Amino acid sequence: MRGLSVLALALAGALTTAANAAGDPERGATLADTCMGCHGIADYNNVYPTYRVPKLGGQNAAYLAASLKAYRSGDRQHPTMRAQANLMTDQDIADLAAFFSQAPKR
Ligand code: HEC
Repeated sequence: MRGLSVLALALAGALTTAANAAGDPERGATLADTCMGCHGIADYNNVYPTYRVPKLGGQNAAYLAASLKAYRSGDRQHPTMRAQANLMTDQDIADLAAFFSQAPKR
C-alpha cells in the first residue's frame, strides 16, 4: 500500500506538471521513438536522406509545442509532420517538447 500511495503522489505530480504544460520528458522519450528516424539526435544518425530535417534537440520547448500544434491544426502544411502531429494530444505534445528541449543538440 505504501508503494501505491507513492505512485499516487507521483501521478498527482505528473498531472500538476501537465497543467503547467511543462510536460514529462520520460514519457516524451518513449513517444519520440518514431521521431528519431528523421530527427536523429543523441547517438542516432539515421536521418532520412530525402529530407532536410530540422534539429529538435535543445530547441525551446514552447517553440516545439507551438510547431507541433501548428502541424496538427494545419497552420503548418508539411504533409509528413501533419501526419505525425495529427493524432497527438496536448499531453503528447507537451511531453515530446519537454523531451526534445532537454535532449542534446544534434
Ligand atoms: C518521416 C520523417 C519525420 C518524422 C518521422 C518526424 N519528423 Fe518532424 N519534421 C520532419 C521534416 C522534414 C520537418 C520540416 C518540415 C517543415 O519544413 O515544416 C519536420 C519538422 C518538425 C518540427 C518543426 C521544427 C522547426 O524547427 O520548426 C517539429 C517540432 C517536429 N518535426 C517534431 C517531430 C516529432 C515530435 C516527431 C515524432 C512524433 C517527428 N517530428 C517525426 C520529418 C519528420
